[in-house]
Amino acid sequence: MARATRTNTDAGSAGADRATTRSAADFLPARKTLASLREAAAGCRGCDLYENATQTVFGEGNAHASLMLVGEQPGDSEDREGHPFVGPAGKLLQRALSEAGIANDDVYITNAVKHFKFEWRGKRRIHAKPKRIEVRACEPWLIEEIKQVKPKLVVALGATAAQALLGPQFRLTERRGELLASPVAPRVVATVHPSSILRAPDDEARHAEMARFVDDLRIVAAMLRAA
Ligand code: URA
Ligand code: SF4
Repeated sequence: MARATRTNTDAGSAGADRATTRSAADFLPARKTLASLREAAAGCRGCDLYENATQTVFGEGNAHASLMLVGEQPGDSEDREGHPFVGPAGKLLQRALSEAGIANDDVYITNAVKHFKFEWRGKRRIHAKPKRIEVRACEPWLIEEIKQVKPKLVVALGATAAQALLGPQFRLTERRGELLASPVAPRVVATVHPSSILRAPDDEARHAEMARFVDDLRIVAAMLRAA
């Protein structure tokens, strides 16, 4: 509905201009609860990514969690199953959270982008990095999730989530593990994405990166206790 109206009023503007203004904002429900947002997000066409994906993967977990974890976008397993972080990266993340002493029931977990972006490689669907314009288009869902859950702390997993929360200039390598403020969440910490640990070149590197990730999450646990 919203889109049909907007298309009419925008009829005279350039196609490129219209593309930059397309957004999940056109699909937000009038009355916002996590349930109504989830339902509305299932029908989102705020960017092109819904076209090839199986379904919207909305955030899940404790609706009043102290900690919100934000990944990049659903992967192959998440796209099929409809739940965030249920594939290999999710399993690694669960292990790291438990090693850091963070209770699963105090976490809400979501992604910066709610549809799986991929390229076909033979019969396999390979992760493709979402463009900035797609991250921007999807941001309204994340902002509303933060408003509803009101976590004490938001942890960005990887550069895409960090840039969604902290702006495109944000450099993970420079500010990893620091407590930062964002216009959409007063307390944000950025760390690596669990997939980056899975991609480590050998066992030694993987163990070292896992240990550093768990250390970051231990700092997060301490911040939560102090908050
Ligand atoms: N990677 C992500 O960023 N999110 C998921 O849900 C799964 C893998
Ligand atoms: Fe909507 Fe986000 Fe999916 Fe794009 S990726 S269609 S903005 S839910």
